[in-house]
Amino acid sequence: MKSTRYFKIIIFGLLIFIGLGYLIDVTALDLIQKPELIISFVVLIITILFNGKIVNNLRKIKFEKLTLEQQQAIKQHKEKNIWWTNLLQKLTKTKPIEEEKDILMNHEYDGIRELDNDLPPWWIYSFYASIIAAIMYMSYYHIFDGDNQIVEFEKEMAQAKIDIAEYKKTAKNLVDASNVALLTDSKDLSKGKKIFETSCVVCHLSDGGGSIGPNLTDEYWILGGGIKNVFTTVSEGGRDGKGMIPWKSTLSPAEIAQVSSYVLSFQGTTPAKAKDHQGEIWLEKEAE
Ligand code: HEC
Repeated sequence: MKSTRYFKIIIFGLLIFIGLGYLIDVTALDLIQKPELIISFVVLIITILFNGKIVNNLRKIKFEKLTLEQQQAIKQHKEKNIWWTNLLQKLTKTKPIEEEKDILMNHEYDGIRELDNDLPPWWIYSFYASIIAAIMYMSYYHIFDGDNQIVEFEKEMAQAKIDIAEYKKTAKNLVDASNVALLTDSKDLSKGKKIFETSCVVCHLSDGGGSIGPNLTDEYWILGGGIKNVFTTVSEGGRDGKGMIPWKSTLSPAEIAQVSSYVLSFQGTTPAKAKDHQGEIWLEKEAE
């Protein structure tokens, strides 16, 4: 009897909890993060208590059939757990077993009889609470025009965009050819210049005029202009056998973005010894 009772309590509690979770759309992670979900825990506990009470009620009907000795033993057990019994009593307001005769209803089906108990306080107060919640809900959304889901969603998305932009500032290495943007910050450009002077001048010259590598100051590009193409070229290298190696093993994505931006700052300058145009004129618009 005892083990099946606990089994029932656990199953019932679980069902309620899953049902609640489904209703308010939570995941296991939210359970830890959102303190308001404690409400569902409380409901769960109450449910368990109440369910235990139902089982108790069924047992009580059998109680009368027990011998006096057995009845005594049960009473003693209850007195031992006095705070627990009191709490149950406060939440459910059931009549003590001795008085159950007074509220036993007249009908009986297959030996099952019904007690005419008062509505349990836990239920009544939940009901009042739901009325208050309904009034609050209605005034918030329908009288004071609170944000509905769509507005909330849009606000959260806008905030997320700000957060992502903020995050990217601190995580520059997340850039790749698809999301790289031309850097204009003087710090980035001076870092780019340093990289260019250590790794690139041998072939492109310090003013970008070009020697082994092509002229980087004109608007003609062999592999495509604009920050995305330049980023790709620096990171993946030029055509096979031309001498422009992939730099992604030596430079971090952030450094490639810096040096590529620096390379593009050569645009429109006049180097001392400009190498002849190579490739095609590249217009930013065409790529868009
Ligand atoms: C060993 C010589 C060499 C070095 C060092 C070198 N490059 Fe190059 N670079 C080349 C050559 C050669 C090409 C042409 C590749 C081709 O035609 O496919 C080129 C092409 C390029 C292009 C594409 C130009 C276009 O017209 O499309 C860019 C941008 C570039 N290099 C940037 C850099 C940067 C930045 C560095 C330093 C991190 C660097 N290069 C280092 C030789 C070099």
